[in-house]
Amino acid sequence: MAKNIMHYDTVSLDDENSALVIIDQTQLPGKVEMLSLTEQKDIWEAIYLLKVRGAPAIGVAAAIGVYLAAKNIKAKDYPTFYEEFKAAKDYLATSRPTAVNLFWALDRMENVVKANKELPVDEIVKLLHDEAVEIREEDIRVCRAIGEYGLTLIKDGDGILTHCNAGQLATVKYGTALAPIHLGVERGMNFKVFTDETRPLLQGIRLSSFELHSNGVDTTVICDNMASQVMKNGWVQAVFVGCDRVAANGDVCNKIGTSGVAILAKHYGIPFYVCGPTSTIDMSIAHGDDIPIEVRPDHEVTEMWYSKRMAPEGVKVYNPAFDVSDNSLVTAIITEFGIARAPYDKSLKEIFAQKEAASKK
Ligand code: MRU
Repeated sequence: MAKNIMHYDTVSLDDENSALVIIDQTQLPGKVEMLSLTEQKDIWEAIYLLKVRGAPAIGVAAAIGVYLAAKNIKAKDYPTFYEEFKAAKDYLATSRPTAVNLFWALDRMENVVKANKELPVDEIVKLLHDEAVEIREEDIRVCRAIGEYGLTLIKDGDGILTHCNAGQLATVKYGTALAPIHLGVERGMNFKVFTDETRPLLQGIRLSSFELHSNGVDTTVICDNMASQVMKNGWVQAVFVGCDRVAANGDVCNKIGTSGVAILAKHYGIPFYVCGPTSTIDMSIAHGDDIPIEVRPDHEVTEMWYSKRMAPEGVKVYNPAFDVSDNSLVTAIITEFGIARAPYDKSLKEIFAQKEAASKK
């Protein structure tokens, strides 16, 4: 019998081989292939091509990636080391624009360098190793906490609809939106989960349904345009989605199609819950309209999953990878520091005040 995908590490550091190790998510569900990446261009490409994907996993991969870059720097004087480190950081930061965890993790790594400039370079590299490992470990704790809070919002037997993949494959363990389900299952609870297919890169059908089914969860795949029917049938008691960047006013940027699901949920009176670590909340962005939306290549829409091209040659294609759900559509935002509800400009500040207080303990 195939090994449960939950027993694999989505993203990890192989110290012995100085490599970033990931599950190649572009091969799922057909093949579980682990990739061991040592070259910066391969790490960049793995993020760009979504071999490793999902906001938290991208952050962890970037932290490990920039540590590996630092380890390869030959210079032993701080100014040259910093210059080369900064170039490696800036390079990885160009891999994808929307998930703020990428920049959050890279900034955290840079802060370690800047705060320790008086130390020998070898010592700084050791500290970068420890910070990358900590960012990874922290993700497990954070996702578990999100799962616990999320679980308080659902009950045994509930129908849950999710979009894209905000599960373990998008993080180090448990996931964000799927964490309450995985934790509930660990405790013997049962849910009926509907996974939107999630055009165009199929994270719902390829990844969420695979992850949930592999973990023994009652899972039904639907095409994106079937969500309304499933909701109308009364089969969905809650929507749980992840996020790539949340603005300070609670506007939520997530995988393209999420805002449509949010609008449907409002229409049918179904709670729309967004799960995300505080590392995905960007308090420097006031409004969702200011979040950069990645636009990806045409072929992902016109031919990628078809045996032959389905769009006429030369037709225009618009392929935004994310959209923004207005905060008025969001029932609650579930973080590792608790559940924020409207008005979000106030509740998200309170969440960050708790984070600040916890960091001083
Ligand atoms: O393009 P992707 O697959 O990286 O997009 C992922 C999402 O939109 C997820 O919902 C989000 O990153 C949260 S993952 C816990």
